[in-house]
Amino acid sequence: MTTPFRKVALVTGASRGIGRAIALDLAQRGFDVALNDIARQADTLAETVREAEAFGGRAIALHADVSSKADVSSMVESLLAQFGRIDAVVNNAGILIAGPVETLTESSWDVVMDINAKGTFLVIQATLPAMKRQGYGRIVNIASIGGKHGAPEQAHYSASKAAVMGFTRVLAQELGSSGITANCICPGIILTDMGRVNLDDPEVQKIWRSKTAQDRIGAPEDVVGPVAFFCSDDSAFVTGQTLNVDGGIVFS
Ligand SMILES: NC(=O)c1ccc[n+]([C@@H]2O[C@H](COP(=O)([O-])OP(=O)(O)OC[C@H]3O[C@@H](n4cnc5c(N)ncnc54)[C@H](O)[C@@H]3O)[C@@H](O)[C@H]2O)c1
Repeated sequence: MTTPFRKVALVTGASRGIGRAIALDLAQRGFDVALNDIARQADTLAETVREAEAFGGRAIALHADVSSKADVSSMVESLLAQFGRIDAVVNNAGILIAGPVETLTESSWDVVMDINAKGTFLVIQATLPAMKRQGYGRIVNIASIGGKHGAPEQAHYSASKAAVMGFTRVLAQELGSSGITANCICPGIILTDMGRVNLDDPEVQKIWRSKTAQDRIGAPEDVVGPVAFFCSDDSAFVTGQTLNVDGGIVFS
């Protein structure tokens, strides 16, 4: 079936790393893309917008902190004013602050939960009315294998990603009859600015590599195909699922 309009995808945290790779891939696949990041990333985001436009569609930058309800609602307002619809939402924005439970500060717990878990909720709540009106939507939430088996010094990060998975399963059940699917991707160890928290030391990199069946660390581009599948009509009958994209670390 052909679509008589260009689909629109919102990608959060799109200036660099996995979000940038997803944004460029969706642009290449024919989506118009609305690319979000915090204002501090404005220059990098502008560069990603330029790269996305080179694929021939429209691309816009939307500055917003996903953990702020006010920011998120003006972001979605601006997106709808410019594109008029939202077909796919990729909640990719996230942060990782490492530290053992015993010394974890309350503010560190809060900021990680606010951006990773609450941010996902706020973006979905703000975009749902448009997707429900259309009777169509593809939600892809980027969680982490850390949300499944955890890792030392990542208690709040793992908790936030487990929250994203639980949230996604509920979305699937609440929205199943509205033409909207909701799925999660759990990246493994991916070489990005965030990934470097784990990977700065070559010895640590070797250990992580050896944990993967494929004996390699992932690149942001390794994540894009599975995201595109969940953003497409090929996954119309798949909802509430979580897919590990980790080169073979977690097998459930
Ligand atoms: N790199 C990995 O190994 C790995 C593994 C599993 C999951 N993930 C997840 O993948 C996603 C992308 O991670 P990455 O490795 O590309 O990290 P990254 O740090 O390179 O990129 C994250 C992006 O999110 C943006 N961001 C941060 N806070 C934001 C906020 N409040 N509002 C809007 N944007 C915000 C950042 O500015 C940045 O552009 C994250 O959700 C992360 O938890 C990454």
